[in-house]
Amino acid sequence: MNDAIDFDRYDRIRPIRWTGEALELLDQRKLPFAVEYVRCDDSDAVAAAIHALTVRGAPAIGIAAAWGVVLAARDIDAADGAQALAAVEPAMQRLNAARPTAVNLAWALARMRRVLAAAGADWREVLSREAQAIADEDLAANRRMGALGAALIVPGSGVLTHCNTGSLATAGFGTALGVIRAGVAQGRIAQVFAGETRPWLQGARLTVWELEQDGIAPTLIADSAAAHLMKTGKIGWVIVGADRICANGDTANKIGTYQLAISARHHGVKFMVAAPSSTVDMATASGDLIEIEEREPGELFSVGGNRTAAERVGAWNPVFDVTPHELIDAIVTERGVIERPDAAAMKAAFGG
Ligand code: MRU
Repeated sequence: MNDAIDFDRYDRIRPIRWTGEALELLDQRKLPFAVEYVRCDDSDAVAAAIHALTVRGAPAIGIAAAWGVVLAARDIDAADGAQALAAVEPAMQRLNAARPTAVNLAWALARMRRVLAAAGADWREVLSREAQAIADEDLAANRRMGALGAALIVPGSGVLTHCNTGSLATAGFGTALGVIRAGVAQGRIAQVFAGETRPWLQGARLTVWELEQDGIAPTLIADSAAAHLMKTGKIGWVIVGADRICANGDTANKIGTYQLAISARHHGVKFMVAAPSSTVDMATASGDLIEIEEREPGELFSVGGNRTAAERVGAWNPVFDVTPHELIDAIVTERGVIERPDAAAMKAAFGG
């Protein structure tokens, strides 16, 4: 087994491009059938793209929002950062309202707000530098998490992942998918199963596409096949990302994650959450306090534009759920691994 990871070999997709003039977002609604970038010239276009899932994944929406602030500041005339902040605040509020569950969005905006408040006459450069730093730090965190998470996996294991947590959901490399990339590179992971992730099919459309770019052949399963997969002994770990990790370790992630965790515990399969520290929200005590985004019921009525549900049906479409910390074997951040997370372990790792 070779523990060195050739990161560049596994890291070629970039969902967010800053041109110096505008923000270009890889349109994740169209993948894998078209690889097209959408251009955003102002912050409201960025907020709309976040809401529409053109760009998605907790770290990626934080990075996009940070560049959205840079765009919002473009037409503002201000002598210093404090003055500029008052003028961009309404645009920041609209960016923040684009999606409620992933804390990375509010976290990135808070970071932009903080540096702007303290900036002098060079506040424009300060904002651009901070947005770039948020993106660069995310990429570095993912690579670190990849190495830390992969080290937990016994060579030859099968793993199951959910949703898309790869380069598309981050600045690059990915969180849970970064761990999987590192695990495959090191020969620890022999087979990668990906759940379809209804209704938006992030697994079938995005994760499978990403892994194929790397020359990794994933095995797609219906979401409803997960318990049977675990029962047949084909996997040692479920590895997922996170949209918000609370002070007690409870974790919000894509809808369906909770049932995977219950099933994993029942079958003796380990459950790993991989997320950067920007996803940790020590101000929220437990998962019960997280706002769970509910999207249009219409997302459940069709697949790929073709109606699949009978007419006149009602639907409920929560798009995240919360996995209680008791069901998580390890939380991996760039700061280290927290085994059997609880409030005390989280506090030791992240402070009050
Ligand atoms: O609705 P989405 O596609 O933005 O949901 C994404 C997820 O739930 C991911 O698992 C999570 O953001 C972690 S991404 C590194």
